[in-house]
Amino acid sequence: MRRKIVAGNWKMNYGLIQTESLIVELKKQTKSSDAEVMIAPTFTNLWHAFEATRRHDIEVIAQNMHFAQQGAYTGEISAGMLKSIGIQTVILGHSERRAYFNETDEALAKKINTGLENDMDMIFCFGEELADRKAGNQEAVVESQIKNALFHLEADAFKHIILAYEPVWAIGTGETATPEQAQEMHAFIRKTLASKYGQKVAESVSILYGGSVKPNNAKEIFSKPDVDGGLIGGASLKAEDFFAIVNAI
Ligand code: PGA
Repeated sequence: MRRKIVAGNWKMNYGLIQTESLIVELKKQTKSSDAEVMIAPTFTNLWHAFEATRRHDIEVIAQNMHFAQQGAYTGEISAGMLKSIGIQTVILGHSERRAYFNETDEALAKKINTGLENDMDMIFCFGEELADRKAGNQEAVVESQIKNALFHLEADAFKHIILAYEPVWAIGTGETATPEQAQEMHAFIRKTLASKYGQKVAESVSILYGGSVKPNNAKEIFSKPDVDGGLIGGASLKAEDFFAIVNAI
């Protein structure tokens, strides 16, 4: 059985006080689905969030990390630092990191390796831009993002990898891929994995959809057979909306 996951990416939102209140609100919500719930607050609030959710069914995860184990990388955070405060999972390759911080497939491949060396789990994000889709190149783009960052791995590594397909044109825009577009791409991603690692590995990897998932469209998207959950930005900043999405699985 593949893991069903709904992860909230809070991005660069909320200081300590707002983080505290959102977590209090999240803890009041009732989960009526079997989805695993994850939240990714900003680095400065990770420890607090980890402590505050300790006896709760919410995993606190990080939004990014550096590929080096340690050293002279001013302003960066390592896998070991995350592990030292109990963080087990990290989001890598978000399109905002690729676009604004020049994260390349090559750098992401290194981050994936570092994550594995530190026994971490990773949500690896990728997706095409609007121009790619308009030109009908979405599958080629996604295939190369996956191959460049992941295809050097052994099959076993995929136990630690969750994929997140996030078409860039749907992130924060209010425009979502239709459930059919999401399913079509997720099936293609699974086929791409199967071509290298075989059907069993391909069937075991969870593939999340991200991009303007809201309470009113989550159910339809999640009903598709190859969609195993979501990576949620804007709608994860309100406890009620986020849990409506969690419960839509
Ligand atoms: P959004 O963001 O839900 O606000 O579109 C999704 C994401 O960036 O992961």
